Amino acid sequence: MTAATATTADTFRPVMHYAARNTWLNDPNGLIFHDGVYHLYYQNNPLDNVWGNMSWGHATSPDLVTWTEHSVAIACDEHEDIFSGSIVFDRDNTSGLGSDSAPPLVAVYTSAFKSGSAHEGLQAQSLAFSLDGGYTWTKHTANPVLNRGSAEFRDPKVIRYDGGAGSYWVMVAVEATDFQIVLYKSPDLKNWEPLSTFGPANATGGVWECPDLFPLPLDGDPENLQWVLTVNLNPGGPNAGSAGQYFVGDFDGTTFTSATTVTEGHQDPDRLGEYQWLDWGRDYYAAVSFSDAPDNRRLMIAWMNNWEYANQIPTSPWRSPMTLAREVSLHTIDGRPRLIQQPAGDFAAVSSAGPSFTLENAELSDCTRVLDGAAGAVQRIDLTLTPGSAEEFGLIVRANGAHGTRVGIRPAHGTLHVDRRTSGNTSFHESFPSIDTAPIRAIEGSYRLTIFVDHCSLEVFAEEGQVTMTELIFPAPTSTDVAIYALGGTATVESLVITQYA
Ligand code: FRU
Repeated sequence: MTAATATTADTFRPVMHYAARNTWLNDPNGLIFHDGVYHLYYQNNPLDNVWGNMSWGHATSPDLVTWTEHSVAIACDEHEDIFSGSIVFDRDNTSGLGSDSAPPLVAVYTSAFKSGSAHEGLQAQSLAFSLDGGYTWTKHTANPVLNRGSAEFRDPKVIRYDGGAGSYWVMVAVEATDFQIVLYKSPDLKNWEPLSTFGPANATGGVWECPDLFPLPLDGDPENLQWVLTVNLNPGGPNAGSAGQYFVGDFDGTTFTSATTVTEGHQDPDRLGEYQWLDWGRDYYAAVSFSDAPDNRRLMIAWMNNWEYANQIPTSPWRSPMTLAREVSLHTIDGRPRLIQQPAGDFAAVSSAGPSFTLENAELSDCTRVLDGAAGAVQRIDLTLTPGSAEEFGLIVRANGAHGTRVGIRPAHGTLHVDRRTSGNTSFHESFPSIDTAPIRAIEGSYRLTIFVDHCSLEVFAEEGQVTMTELIFPAPTSTDVAIYALGGTATVESLVITQYA
């Protein structure tokens, strides 16, 4: 296959998420806000809709919701695949790859060297630069710039460190199969010296990939900056397969010290639920944050898929969407710093189709109620539920009657779950039909959920952004009902507001 063509109707193409026109994508790469535009580069197979020929695709957005695809930014060649990495705006032209009057954007990516190339079998870090604001890229002639003779050294995220120890570039990358983050520093993006390593710690059920390191004020206090180290792992997530975890602590310019490590060294399988997860769903991987986002916001996007079944999901001619962009902040909860996540895009950019559906003070008693006038394929759902005697209660979305994807709460178990066993097409992979759970607590006696539903996904924000669950689903286009339910007793829908999108 040289170019993917549609074999079935493109019924799953998302409205509020990015997907490539007719090709494969995985990890977001080089996220940066530059000249008033959000740039999303990504692992892309320009020739097919399965993984391969890894290159950097490119899309831009003014609002983080609607995206325009551009030509391939950095293409693989006979020597190398272009694996994941990041982009910085080298405003002082420290690299010399631009000029003082036209400073460059510099991409730092992993060269995955092919057989027959000079560095066959190795993964090392390389540079490319853009002098036109990120639309065309030139590979640096002296690549790779950082080679440690490893076959598993990848996914560099470069940040500008300006702190007590000085002012320089810092790279966090992984030694994937050692479950280790490796940190380097550089004055010019070309010459790198080792700083320190972090890990293994907490979840180590699969290789470590795509790390990130950024400061955030704790509880909004700019005088109390803490550092967040994120790392994705595959497999080994809380509900199996790919997932992302994070640590909070201090970075002194050399070493990251975690204050939230539960297990030093390798994971304790009994303590998986105590580790800090970026998302509890099955389809939130390779999450990474934007450089230079406006107003010091820390915005993240992840790949909305799971390596367990990524190449088989039934979308055509494209394969794999990105998640919504999320703003993360850090708050003390039960004495521990925790990431809080909120949707970050400007949803006014996708038109709202007609009036919202609202419901208040609806008592449920061991029943399932399909809501007249609530049906839709692309929705934002804001729901507040108060438990009564029901063992389980919640919502069914993208449903045909009561048959759809369940978002349920079981108060006695303290869990939120997404049950996608009857969500539509689940047969393309044996591990896809699943019930995935996350811990959840009531706040002042109620559960508040915000759920974004699109043509092939749902993202649940619960407990004021402390808990998120992201899941792919592949419902029939006609499955658009919304239902509420309570099992074995009572529950109350305090309020339900559904905003419909085209
Ligand atoms: C994560 C990953 C990265 C690698 C890229 C290759 O999904 O495996 O570690 O750079 O994908 O496409």
